Amino acid sequence: MIIAVDGPLASGKGTIARTLASKFGLPYLDTGSLYRATALAVLDAGDDPADSDAAVRAARGLQVDAIDETRIRTAEAGAAASKVAAIPAVREALYQVQRNFAYQPGGAILDGRDIGTVICPDADVKLFVVADAETRARRRWMELKARGDTITFEEMLAQTLERDARDSDRSDAPMQAADDATLLDTTSLSIDAAVAAAIAIVEKRQKA
Ligand code: C5P
Repeated sequence: MIIAVDGPLASGKGTIARTLASKFGLPYLDTGSLYRATALAVLDAGDDPADSDAAVRAARGLQVDAIDETRIRTAEAGAAASKVAAIPAVREALYQVQRNFAYQPGGAILDGRDIGTVICPDADVKLFVVADAETRARRRWMELKARGDTITFEEMLAQTLERDARDSDRSDAPMQAADDATLLDTTSLSIDAAVAAAIAIVEKRQKA
């Protein structure tokens, strides 16, 4: 079984995807980490994330097993990730690693922005997880604050809106729900309720 979980920043898709992976015994790939790690490599080299040559070089040289899970989680890496992700050649460089992961024997679960539309258009289950922008900005702000980040809520909200616009408006693989995706709005749901709703959607699809 292949499960695709897409949606904007802090919609709850990561938590949902991780829980579904353990519940259904599937390997899990957070595809945002590939774009974040690419962006971080560009920043570490002193280059501009919007510089296509530098970003493509970083994407092609990415060592997926060596991604620094702590350093890619900053607001700076997230903002730079959405810049490298808008470059078609970067997406192309990261395409095969995602396809190979998805189509391994036994299936997999992947979360991102274009899993149900581009990476796994024939996924068995597609979820598109949403929540209103203020709620998502507050969730991410609390997470970053707990990790010592000094970003303010207003800055986080502005970054959320900016990132949503860049991810939705890019020409290549824009963030959008696949026609056959099930929409899950987590705005007023607790984590447990959101996860329970996602499990119910997968189980319903399995029975269909
Ligand atoms: O999900 P996360 O916030 O870690 O993703 C960081 C950025 O990577 C997103 O804002 C988006 O621009 C990009 N991304 C993407 N396609 C994916 C996953 C992430 O364009 N499948």
